[in-house]
Amino acid sequence: MSTVKPITLTRHLEGELEVGGIDLTELAQTYGTPLYVLDEATLRDNCRAYTAPLSQHYPNYQVVFAGKAGLNKGILNLIAEEGLGVDVVSGGELYTALKSDVSPDKILFHGNNKSLEEISMALDHQIRIVVDNGQELKNIQTLCQQKACTANLLVRLKPEIEAHTHDYIKTGHIDSKFGIDKRELIDIISFIVDTPELKFLGIHGHIGSQIFDVEPYLDLVRIMVGHLVHIKSEVGVEVEELNLGGGIGIRYIEQDDPPAIDLFIEKLTTLLKEELKKAGLKEPKLILEPGRSIIGNAGLTLYTVGAVKPIPGIKDYVFVDGGMADNPRPMLYQAEYTFELANKAGKGKPYTIAGKYCESGDVLAEGVLLPEPSVGDVLAVYGTGAYNYAMASNYNRCQRPAMVGVFGGHSRVLVRRETYDDVIRYDL
Ligand SMILES: Cc1ncc(COP(=O)(O)O)c(C=O)c1O
Repeated sequence: MSTVKPITLTRHLEGELEVGGIDLTELAQTYGTPLYVLDEATLRDNCRAYTAPLSQHYPNYQVVFAGKAGLNKGILNLIAEEGLGVDVVSGGELYTALKSDVSPDKILFHGNNKSLEEISMALDHQIRIVVDNGQELKNIQTLCQQKACTANLLVRLKPEIEAHTHDYIKTGHIDSKFGIDKRELIDIISFIVDTPELKFLGIHGHIGSQIFDVEPYLDLVRIMVGHLVHIKSEVGVEVEELNLGGGIGIRYIEQDDPPAIDLFIEKLTTLLKEELKKAGLKEPKLILEPGRSIIGNAGLTLYTVGAVKPIPGIKDYVFVDGGMADNPRPMLYQAEYTFELANKAGKGKPYTIAGKYCESGDVLAEGVLLPEPSVGDVLAVYGTGAYNYAMASNYNRCQRPAMVGVFGGHSRVLVRRETYDDVIRYDL
């Protein structure tokens, strides 16, 4: 069962919250705020929530963490220890992955507009590439000819499934910018199969993100196996790899009700095996690309309360020392989070949590029940492991916060806090 909070989180009788064996207020004092905190035990537990049932139900698998959710060398080294690979979507993410302990044969390169330079970097390290469109395929072929190398390719397909999630995080439908139309699939695959410097490994389909329903994934299995049958009859090949993307949802607030990962995996793999058997196909390697369900609830953000500003009869603001620059998701797509004071237990009256940035919309949440917040209190926001640091900016020339990992009463800096000199580093 997905939890909103890290699995090691507890509150002492004195009212203090601790995670990974360390008081959150102590972390705030030691490293300053805003601060991203990563509970390493939760991250590992989430990795195992995938690998354990897959080992049992479909041993020919590879889990690649969707690095876009939030990657740095420390995070990647941890997931590498858990046997995961990583899916990257840019030269910067690929470079980070290559500098980490993740083995290059477990890296997958995605993206709908990969530059020649990015493709070149991937080819130089024999990274598998997920092809998004025909132009990209031509670029890969040209570069392979220049470099006298072979590219290992999967083809990203639009599965044309509507999944019930926010529009901005829906990617599998027909007008999505991602992937190849099913009507072009056979031509694209035939081209790869007929081109000596290209190797066809398999197909990829991703239906969206933050989905709580298993049914769209089961539809995806049926649709993708249908394509495998078609590919075999039209092109004469059986795929080695079938990638079903990422996206099982997580619990950001208590009312969210995503399926447990092991149940999701069991249903997915049971149907996949049945469908493959019915179609007379061999079992390809199953690749899954979970992002937020690996790292979301492993992360939390700490802020210090700088002021409480009542607007009589309307609302009471709590101002924190971060906001939209370290967590743009509430502004981008009305994402909801769970909040708690790290140094005071209980619920009181509703407050509006506003950031410090020069935008009226810089509000993290409305109606958060807090027990009389006051200046200097430490506010914890749960579930910020995914798409927070990864989407953070230097808006208003702020310095991006540090990220610390916690485990067994120890903490370590995974990414240091930026300084004012970092902020002007590229000014000429
Ligand atoms: C292709 C692909 N794979 C994996 C993911 C990860 O999704 P999530 O973080 O919801 O698991 C995404 C996110 O949108 C994606 O586009």
